[in-house]
Parts: sequence; C-alpha cells; structure tokens
Amino acid sequence: MDKELILNARKPKGELGSKMIDRMNKSHENLAQWGVSHLNIDVNDVILDIGCGGGVNVKRFSEIATGGKVYGMDYSSLSVEKSQDLNKIAIEEGSVEIIQGSVSDIPFEDETFDLITAFETVYFWPDFLNDLKEAYRVLKDNGTIFICNEAVGDKEVIEKMKEHIDLLDMKIYSEDELKSALLDAGFVDIKTFRKEGTNWMCVLATKD
Ligand SMILES: C[S@@+](CC[C@H](N)C(=O)[O-])C[C@H]1O[C@@H](n2cnc3c(N)ncnc32)[C@H](O)[C@@H]1O
Repeated sequence: MDKELILNARKPKGELGSKMIDRMNKSHENLAQWGVSHLNIDVNDVILDIGCGGGVNVKRFSEIATGGKVYGMDYSSLSVEKSQDLNKIAIEEGSVEIIQGSVSDIPFEDETFDLITAFETVYFWPDFLNDLKEAYRVLKDNGTIFICNEAVGDKEVIEKMKEHIDLLDMKIYSEDELKSALLDAGFVDIKTFRKEGTNWMCVLATKD
C-alpha cells in the first residue's frame, strides 16, 4: 500500500483519507464482527464509539440499541463527515450523533455511557493511561469499555509491522500492557479474547 495512503489511518484527511476510510470500512469488518460477538448490548444502552472512522460500528450498534442512543466521536473532521453520511437516517431520527473530539478530552459529562468502544484506534491515542481515565470518567458505574485490535504487541508482530509502526508513529500494545493500563485507570473485571490463527485481540473491562 502507498505510504501516503497508509498515513491516513492515523487521522484521515482529504481524498486519500476518504479512500482509506472506505478501505477500512471493508477491511475491518471481519475483526469488528468477531469483536462485537463478545459484547452484550442492551437495547437501551447509550454507547460511544471512539475513533469511529467511517461509522460502520456506530451503524451496527444503532441497529441493536434501538431504545438507547449511539454516539460516534473522532478527531478527524473527515471521519466525522463520512460517519455522518453513513448514519444519515439515524441522525435525522435522533438515535445517532457524530461529533468531532479527542479521546484526551471527551466532550461529555461524567457517567454518560453504558458502553465505550474503540476499534483499531488505541494505537494512536496520545496519552494512553490518561485517555483511559477520560473514558472511565464518562462511563456510568458498571459501564464497559471495549477495545478491539487486529495487532497485539507480541515480539514477532512488532518486528513484522516495524515499517508501519514507524511510519504511523503507532503503539502496538501487548495483552499485558493493555491489562495493566486498564487496571491503573481504575477498571476491574478485565477479560481478554484472542482469535486463534490471527493477531486479533479484544478486551472488555468494567468501571468499578
Ligand atoms: C485506523 S482508524 C479506525 C477507524 C474505525 N474505528 C474502524 O475500525 O474502521 C483510526 C481512527 O481513530 C481516529 N483517532 C486516532 N486518534 C484519535 C484521538 N486521539 N481521538 C479521537 N479519534 C482518534 C482516527 O482519526 C481514525 O479515524
């Protein structure tokens, strides 16, 4: 893949960013479906998808949480625009909202969400522990955070991805690093899932 295109995975922008989002909407589908199979979404849940990209997961959740509300948030204005396009009808009906914002300063009040999700985005978060604490703040008591990554920081994976990691200035977390950051942020009941034959991992944790 072209370097300029790859760079748009971090903060999609312009024509290449749009192309990258369309690509991610398709290429992340199997991972997302596998990840979501570990979630127990209630029809009345209020959900925030951080780093929502093209908004596919927002759409998926809005079709399940029909009595609740689903918010997508991304710091890229293009991701916001593309997510809004994809979720146009639900936005008009009031069941979805897409906003521009950073995980480091989530523009919502304390204890707003039942579920916060993060697909393929934590690699780029600028201050992981504090960003997790920020997610903790806006979760309701007993709320869930869900992180879903196609790359886990095992040694061979990091070696194989070195070029991408350097280019995108991304951090590939190991299972232990994710668990310990979640614990440090105050989360409990941490459950990790790996898919055999892949480097996929998803993590669920609860606000104490
Ligand atoms: C690789 S894309 C994944 C998009 C989507 N979640 C998916 O699975 O297809 C990463 C997304 O996270 C967003 N992102 C990265 N860092 C962010 C931050 N600090 N705050 C909010 N969004 C962020 C990017 O703009 C991009 O849309």
